[in-house]
Amino acid sequence: MEQNPITKAIRTHIPRTNEMEHSSPLFLTSSFCFDNAEEMRATFAGETDDNIYSRFSNPNVQEFIDKICILEGAEDGFATASGMSAVFASFMALLKKGDHLLSCNSIFGSTHTVISKYLPNYGIEYTYVPADKPEEWEAAIRPNTKMIYIETPTNPGLDIIDLAVVGQLAKKHSLILNVDNCFATPLGQRPIDFGAHLVVHSATKWIDGQGRVLGGIVVGEKELIKEIYAFCRSTGPAMSPFNAWVLSKSTDTLDVRMERHSANALHIAKALENHAKIAFLKYPFLPSHPQYAIAKKQMKNGGGIVCFELKGGLQSGRNFLDSLKILTLTANLGDTKSIASHPASTTHAKLTEQERQQVNITPGLIRISVGLEYAADILADIEQALESC
Ligand SMILES: Cc1ncc(COP(=O)(O)O)c(C=O)c1O
Repeated sequence: MEQNPITKAIRTHIPRTNEMEHSSPLFLTSSFCFDNAEEMRATFAGETDDNIYSRFSNPNVQEFIDKICILEGAEDGFATASGMSAVFASFMALLKKGDHLLSCNSIFGSTHTVISKYLPNYGIEYTYVPADKPEEWEAAIRPNTKMIYIETPTNPGLDIIDLAVVGQLAKKHSLILNVDNCFATPLGQRPIDFGAHLVVHSATKWIDGQGRVLGGIVVGEKELIKEIYAFCRSTGPAMSPFNAWVLSKSTDTLDVRMERHSANALHIAKALENHAKIAFLKYPFLPSHPQYAIAKKQMKNGGGIVCFELKGGLQSGRNFLDSLKILTLTANLGDTKSIASHPASTTHAKLTEQERQQVNITPGLIRISVGLEYAADILADIEQALESC
């Protein structure tokens, strides 16, 4: 019987050393040794898979990559120091001067900065297309378009993009489909099953899940990862072995954690949906979400993020954050501890007011990263803070 990917990932392990350890040890070493000159020559020539130097590969990093590849259904991967270095490497390794990138307009703030500020310095053009209107995307494809980049669910607006529709579009025009799967995690959705060629993650978020380390990973087709590996091997955004050790172990609990995060988030979303102080609330698995049918089709659970717009706008948003007693105000998401944030003044502050409006980041938008505390306690804290709005 074919094992479930969750079982396979949990049982994935660096080959045991002579100590016969059960839990993978930590290989904190910058470089690796060779018995003789011929072995060293052959490894440098790519004739063996042996490790050379931890900027290129490391057993702990490889264990983490292997687990995420299994969970995402990917052929190969490369792990990086942060989610942004994974996103950046996926662009720089595969796009060149004169190429055109099609990206959904609703993306993480730093990704927007990379696309709109830095890629043009290298002669790479881009067009933003509305995340909620994939039917308009085909018209934006040019002869030099090389890649489609999307986030689904988007950060922070929780728009859901139909992966099957975009997968078909990429196939029809022979484009690379690159999906940031940070919000859903591989346990919430598998973009490769819908035609994605690459999947990027900020492992800093749900994969770590405890707010400890930074990390990123890009997985996908072997030939594409080969290019990304070559770029990263020379430019150096490698994941630290310690972070890989932490992230590999947290990957083992990702499925059960995401189930509880999602159950808590759904409970809170349902309870707050019609609250008098809230203008609208979005959660992928609420029937009121505009793309609920798509979310149900491609996601296993709704994820741990809930967002809502306060009727009182900016000042209400500030009052809300200042009145919270349990939820933390911090830049991260995907932690055991619930977190509240105000995207307009933080993660998406570098966008212009008009750009924020285009991606539905309104002044009173609050994003809640729902933690693993008891759901009733999280809800009670949000409800008492709403009284001040
Ligand atoms: C959707 C998404 N992609 C990428 C990133 C960047 O990840 P990192 O902070 O690990 O560089 C983030 C961070 O919040 C994110 O939310």
